[in-house]
Amino acid sequence: MKPRREGEHLRILIRRSAIERRVRQLGRRITSEFKGRRLHLVGVLKGASIFLSDLIREIDLEVSLDFISVASYGQSTHSSGQVRLTKDLDTSVEGLDIILVEDILDTGLTLDYIERVLLQRKPRSLRVATFLRKNVPRAKPIEPDYIGFEIPNEFVVGYGLDYAERYRNLRDICVLELPGGEDPHPQPPSPGAR
Ligand code: IMP
Ligand code: MG
Repeated sequence: MKPRREGEHLRILIRRSAIERRVRQLGRRITSEFKGRRLHLVGVLKGASIFLSDLIREIDLEVSLDFISVASYGQSTHSSGQVRLTKDLDTSVEGLDIILVEDILDTGLTLDYIERVLLQRKPRSLRVATFLRKNVPRAKPIEPDYIGFEIPNEFVVGYGLDYAERYRNLRDICVLELPGGEDPHPQPPSPGAR
């Protein structure tokens, strides 16, 4: 059914139909909360691209779009603690109502860093939408305004989320289990691999 590597097991956690319903709800909420205003969505490459492309079509407002990309230093893409910009926004966000759109909130380091970068540029307002929030103690206290789903502390792929750049195209969110119960978190650092 789904192309996968030998020994890698995918267990469905959130089905496509549930994702569609939830994204529609979030779009309606955003539409009513920003009624009469112009909205600017900032997506975090690459993981948020699928969520963002579904979400933006559920928003019935004048809306523009930009992307930003970051990479983290260290052995693990996960908890190294150092984030840097690998692709900046194309246009100024000064005076705009922004929603920062991310795939998953884990340690919070990524969103904390990007929030600080965006706030320096004097938007009119800044909110955060994350498709998933992992139930873990966070290095940075990030409180998203919009959350798709709360999930347990497991490594998930699909709907934009990858393991070593694979599985972004799955329609469901799946838990990835590796052969021998290996922990999928540590991946070689690759710039822009989020
Ligand atoms: P944070 O900076 O620790 O909050 O991590 C956010 C980034 O780590 C996300 O943008 C993802 O690229 C990656 N990440 C964290 N958890 C997962 C996961 O379970 N699956 C895939 N990527 C993840
Ligand atoms: Mg990633």
